[in-house]
Amino acid sequence: MKSPFALSLCLVLAACDGGEVPAEPTGGSNRPASPAAQDPAVPNPDELDAKALYMSLCAMCHGETGDGKGMVPLDRPARSFLSGGFSFGNTPTAVARTIASGIGGTPMPGFAESLTEAQQLALAEYVIAFGPEQNELLPGETEMQVGERPLVVRGTLPPIADGRPLLPRGLMVGCLDGLSWEYEAQPVRLLGVRQGDFVNRADWGERGGAALEPLGRLVYTMAWEEARSDWAWTPALGTGSPGPGIPGRAGGAPEMPLTAQLKATEIVDGVAFVEYSLLDSSGQEIALIRESGQAFSIGNWAGFQLVFEIEPVRAEGLLLRRTLQEVGKGHELARFTKTGQEWVVTQRADGSAEVLAAPPAFLLADAAPGVVEETHLFGLPWIETSEATLMEDLP
Ligand code: HEC
Repeated sequence: MKSPFALSLCLVLAACDGGEVPAEPTGGSNRPASPAAQDPAVPNPDELDAKALYMSLCAMCHGETGDGKGMVPLDRPARSFLSGGFSFGNTPTAVARTIASGIGGTPMPGFAESLTEAQQLALAEYVIAFGPEQNELLPGETEMQVGERPLVVRGTLPPIADGRPLLPRGLMVGCLDGLSWEYEAQPVRLLGVRQGDFVNRADWGERGGAALEPLGRLVYTMAWEEARSDWAWTPALGTGSPGPGIPGRAGGAPEMPLTAQLKATEIVDGVAFVEYSLLDSSGQEIALIRESGQAFSIGNWAGFQLVFEIEPVRAEGLLLRRTLQEVGKGHELARFTKTGQEWVVTQRADGSAEVLAAPPAFLLADAAPGVVEETHLFGLPWIETSEATLMEDLP
């Protein structure tokens, strides 16, 4: 196998020759570059110059300024360190562990063999220093709190409800509006939404195996079937308009499920994005999705909205759709189409109504990207006039 390293190192050195002066994070080592920097392939085991190590081993993917824009083209973006918030914990020890072990299934290599523990730690401190000052976890303190920016953590998640599995690859996204989003990371699937405190991390001492204890109150659990995927596509036959996004309603061709494969998480301007590829059954990439969620309300109805930014990769007239489970099947109260979306109202056990506005199917006809939204609202018992008032209050 060809190492991406050899190639990327040349690129990085070439870039340095170009006279670019990389910014140095404030908290990094100030020691001058050492001979190891000139022969980056073989770091000196005693070398503790974090900047030199970073420039020679990491910058090609993460960027010289830590902005995630390295020279090496990657199938998924390398992490930008500028916004802080590390998926596997924010302490130098936790980040050093990520550096040592790498991130399986992503281009992030492990450096356990090539760097000493002291070097891993020095690099951890160096990349943390790229980010803003953080509320660092003190030893013994395990509760993670969302501060000025969203937090993303990965680890084992306990079953979200009775009968659901334990998830060794869980992902929690804590947002500034007090909602946290509980995901299965591989395949990517939103499992539930919580409100309140974020996460306790109980480190079991395994590599990357930190167990997460979500602290927020579960406000929503996605309807769920193990064998089902959340995305599917159908060939767009003829000129018929894209059908609604809820199965059982769309006539015509059968849906082919797509696998959602995690690429990265990203925090931009206070919004956390989960980015994934949709792959067909032969493993071919159909589209890239950037998913984000936020609290959302219309009049007396409160809930949340998921936003999917869709970038077609293969554009052959495919209709991409969310295969939403109908919630509370058998208790459907109303169904109507407005604002280009299908709205389904079901009754919850406590008599209140749940409103789901499914995103319309997205036509991957040309390579134009687009955005679809999925709205979940909860509120009062549904009465005759509810539909009218709900629509009136639409933004
Ligand atoms: C071949 C490209 C590549 C190289 C070289 C590389 N990384 Fe990464 N790194 C990535 C990618 C891609 C990710 C994001 C993986 C993901 O979560 O999807 C990542 C993620 C990380 C993370 C995890 C961030 C988080 O959210 O927890 C850390 C820390 C990190 N890299 C540090 C380093 C350090 C330090 C070096 C050099 C010693 C390095 N990386 C070298 C590609 C690279």
